[in-house]
Amino acid sequence: MRTVTTPASKAAKILPKVLRGRQPQPTTMVIFGAGGDLTKRLVVPALFHLLQASKLPDRFAIIGVDHNDQTTEQWRRSLTDMMQTLTLATRSDDPAWSWLTRRMLYMPGDFTQPETFSHLQKLLAEQREQNKSANVLFYLAVGERFFGPITEQLGHAGLTQQSEAAWRRVVIEKPFGHDLSSAEALNTQILQVLSENQIYRIDHFLGKETVQNILVLRFANGIFEPLWNRDHIDHVQITAAETIGVEGRGPFYERTGALRDMVPNHLFQLLAMIGMEPPISFDADAVRAKKTELLQAIHPVSPENAIRGQYGSGVVLGQKVQGYRHEPNVALDSGTETYVALKLGIDNWRWAGVPFYLRTGKCLSARTTEIAVQFRQAPYSLFRDTPVERLPANILTLRIQPDEGLSVSFSAKRPGSEIEIDGVAMDFAYRDYFEPIATVGYETLIYDCLIGDATLFQRADTVEAAWRAVHDLLDFWARNRPDDFPNYAAGSDGPDAAGQLLARDGRAWVAIRADHPHKALRP
Ligand code: BG6
Repeated sequence: MRTVTTPASKAAKILPKVLRGRQPQPTTMVIFGAGGDLTKRLVVPALFHLLQASKLPDRFAIIGVDHNDQTTEQWRRSLTDMMQTLTLATRSDDPAWSWLTRRMLYMPGDFTQPETFSHLQKLLAEQREQNKSANVLFYLAVGERFFGPITEQLGHAGLTQQSEAAWRRVVIEKPFGHDLSSAEALNTQILQVLSENQIYRIDHFLGKETVQNILVLRFANGIFEPLWNRDHIDHVQITAAETIGVEGRGPFYERTGALRDMVPNHLFQLLAMIGMEPPISFDADAVRAKKTELLQAIHPVSPENAIRGQYGSGVVLGQKVQGYRHEPNVALDSGTETYVALKLGIDNWRWAGVPFYLRTGKCLSARTTEIAVQFRQAPYSLFRDTPVERLPANILTLRIQPDEGLSVSFSAKRPGSEIEIDGVAMDFAYRDYFEPIATVGYETLIYDCLIGDATLFQRADTVEAAWRAVHDLLDFWARNRPDDFPNYAAGSDGPDAAGQLLARDGRAWVAIRADHPHKALRP
């Protein structure tokens, strides 16, 4: 089945006005962790893209703070080197890049010492003079152990104090806590200094266009929502399969594991977007309230509905890969899971009885993040006297990445005198309709912080609801070491037990594959 291609210009015209850009006010952005990877690979490239899209204010400055002793010139040079490696601004005299680097200032400082914050106060006062603005966005691109201390120090130095003329916002990266009690403690700590509307807890999955599109798909179209419930949907599968291993992050991953790393944050965000009730508006709190309600309705996941796995050696995308236990800084008898599959139940009127199966893992056969919504099967009676044995179910697949798009599979009669039914699909691929835009995935998130739109950020209660849903499972797994690790080969689709989790309900996972089967149907 073919799709009709609309040119990007026409698609832009049908965008509702409300979704078009607002210009941010003059701002100084303070980046803690200025020398770190996140700043270099994501935050600064995203700022560069925002500048190219005319989404930065004219009066804008960046103060980078980090432990390392280096000059502003050295910091700018290291960022320029990274931009060249990423082939973004390949010439250091690129006019947009020079505009940005001229506005960068580096300040060495210990994140835990009050002197750092009094020094910062002086620099911000100078910026205020120059930029005639006291709006400040503090970006904590630092290890989780610094989130609390930096926020406290900002508070002690009076830097979080807002006024009519000046806002102060704080962006906090993942991970937000490592379990329910640490997330609650961190919320309590930062809420002593900041009010909830000053806090922007990032989940980078919400920076993905395809994730943001879920709400548009559901609520800007009339055809899906009437079917979006237990009367019509059999079950939902959410998959985030990765081909990479832990990429030198052994110490982090050993303490974290696949469940903490991916589920209460990224996968639950996808789940919330798919499962939430319609909000009364696109206002940040209206949307976040509905997402939080959905997470609060998850039955605590019990161990019998959860499978964990760890990869052994194998071949991923043609490359030999050693087992997780042989990664640097990983214990030879590590019990950390690199794969998790869960069956979730949601306790509300819309979803009672509809299982949500979630899975994520490292070193799997292909990289793909997708959501498959499987509809209930049509009644068989009409085809009783034909050779058709089994009607395939309709599946709506939302391809989050790569090959971003969406497809609906359905049955069609194969031309000929016999009744033969084939599975076919309607397919929408982003690249067929829209011009690709340069992105590292952080542009929308940073822009939203600048304009004060918190829709894509986690509230305290959202984060806590997510941790609460997996609390018992984390606890059980911590007390019961796995005795079958490694239990899947690198390059496979995960442990056999994950297949059994669905097989016992008479269901099966959709295949993990990067080249979507429906591609073949496209001319
Ligand atoms: C991060 C996890 O939050 O998300 C990583 O810590 C994971 O382990 C990554 O690889 C996945 O994000 P993306 O955007 O590459 O799918």
